[in-house]
Amino acid sequence: MGFWDWFALCLCVLIFLSNALMIVYMLLGVFKTTTQAPYISSFDKDIRIMKEKLVLKHGSSLIDLWCWDGKAMRFFANVYWMKCVGFDINFYAIVIGKFLTYFSPYRNQITFFMKNFFKADLSKFDYIYVYLLPVQLKAIESRIWKHKKKETIIVSNTFQFTEHTPFEIIENEKGKKVIFLYK
Ligand SMILES: C[S@@+](CC[C@H](N)C(=O)[O-])C[C@H]1O[C@@H](n2cnc3c(N)ncnc32)[C@H](O)[C@@H]1O
Repeated sequence: MGFWDWFALCLCVLIFLSNALMIVYMLLGVFKTTTQAPYISSFDKDIRIMKEKLVLKHGSSLIDLWCWDGKAMRFFANVYWMKCVGFDINFYAIVIGKFLTYFSPYRNQITFFMKNFFKADLSKFDYIYVYLLPVQLKAIESRIWKHKKKETIIVSNTFQFTEHTPFEIIENEKGKKVIFLYK
């Protein structure tokens, strides 16, 4: 084999190994429920319900706490012309998110930070979006209410906070509660 054959082979092996590493890393994250949330983006069915029924202020600002690949932020940027900021501690999430967003029409509206949620300045945003399991919502609930602006609205996909009552609940076509709005 010549130089370029070896080069191509090494490149393929490298890509395969980094993908394998990413998958193992993501799967391990699923089981660390108190500090890590599953590596799943908002489902299309929930995004569709939000698109149909959620009325939010156009041109406002939003932070997606634990944003993964930024899928939800691209939705908010698209439908509500929002400026979005996403925090995630996962390197791969940030790389994939930046890549997908760069090639989308919303690249000037979305910024990613590879940072722990606890470093986010929540007082700057009109909306806070979360798609996290109840155990993670419980872990961040008091911090959100302590640091957010009084008028900031929290949009929680699928799961509810325990200490606060939503002022609005959006149901899907089967009557299942899917989106919870808090102040
Ligand atoms: C369910 S996904 C979020 C999906 C995204 N919000 C959406 O709706 O498409 C959860 C993400 O939380 C991230 N995460 C877990 N703990 C975190 C922390 N302390 N700070 C920031 N991100 C965290 C994980 O890396 C994972 O990508």
